[in-house]
Amino acid sequence: DILSIAHEHDIDLEGKHLFEGRCQLADLCDPGACEGSVACSTCHVILSPEHYDLLPEPEDDENDMLDMAFGLTDTSRLGCQVK
Ligand code: FES
Repeated sequence: DILSIAHEHDIDLEGKHLFEGRCQLADLCDPGACEGSVACSTCHVILSPEHYDLLPEPEDDENDMLDMAFGLTDTSRLGCQVK
């Protein structure tokens, strides 16, 4: 998944949920905080429309978490769920 690949390559997903220099998720600021159990939105990524369209639709639990993601867009996904 995207979250694992980002970790393997030291790519920091942090910042997607920063607003005016403050983390919007308080102590859940660590990207991948729930380790892929769809219980946070710290792995939020925004895909290009072309890549988004290649993927199956998000499951309901992913959509529920995405609703809480800061800066949600039409092509947002949870990085831990994109295989
Ligand atoms: Fe928590 Fe992806 S790491 S939902």
